[in-house]
Amino acid sequence: MQPGDPAAVRQLFEQIAPTYDRLNDTLSLGLHRLWKRQAIAYLAPRPGQRLLDLCCGTGDLALLLAEKVRPGGQVLGLDAAEAPLELARRRAARRPWLNLDWRLGDALATGLSDGWADGAVVAYGLRNLADPLAGLGELRRLLRPGGRAAVLDFNRPEDPAGLVARFQRFYLRQLVVPLARQADLEAHYAYLEESLARFPTGSEQESLARQAGFTRSVHRPLAGGQMGLLELVA
Ligand SMILES: C[S@@+](CC[C@H](N)C(=O)[O-])C[C@H]1O[C@@H](n2cnc3c(N)ncnc32)[C@H](O)[C@@H]1O
Repeated sequence: MQPGDPAAVRQLFEQIAPTYDRLNDTLSLGLHRLWKRQAIAYLAPRPGQRLLDLCCGTGDLALLLAEKVRPGGQVLGLDAAEAPLELARRRAARRPWLNLDWRLGDALATGLSDGWADGAVVAYGLRNLADPLAGLGELRRLLRPGGRAAVLDFNRPEDPAGLVARFQRFYLRQLVVPLARQADLEAHYAYLEESLARFPTGSEQESLARQAGFTRSVHRPLAGGQMGLLELVA
């Protein structure tokens, strides 16, 4: 699959939606939940805030955030694919006390007004966008001045020959792809390494975010450098 091709990316996530959460838990040994909590800790959500989860997938971050903004707050989860959104809607229906909305849309052109959100998260989404700078630009536009955003994703190590990069290749090729093969999703998960190869490194993300207008932009490696959290202030 061609990374950066929006239609192909959308189709991929339509297809893997039913197994996405289970595979995610297995492949990260449940650790993605911890990394997502670190993203939320940076965001420091408060009751009454209006928050965005861009590229929300099946909505786990949006659900966690919706608990944190009670009472009076609101969370909007936006994704380009219908199948994960449908799963997100079903999960949210089991917690009717949460003020949560879901929208089918493009993170590069959300149609929301300037400064709509007090804060935002993007988890494993930026890497999938055709143009990460444009994605960061839209994210900046959507935040009120001073609003925070947390962008969580795989980290592309600065040194491709170093230990961190070698472990990452081993993990993606020897664990992720073979496990995905068992679910008939080998090609879908091979895309992970392809998308990572064109993803900006942490320091590149920091400068792209500054170009996009963020006043603060710090990339923190997580999980020994396998993941990265880009901490932003609009
Ligand atoms: C790897 S999943 C991450 C889902 C969720 N945020 C998580 O952390 O589990 C990436 C999601 O980004 C969505 N996506 C890809 N391109 C998008 C775009 N241009 N606009 C909005 N969502 C997009 C996909 O449909 C998919 O659900």
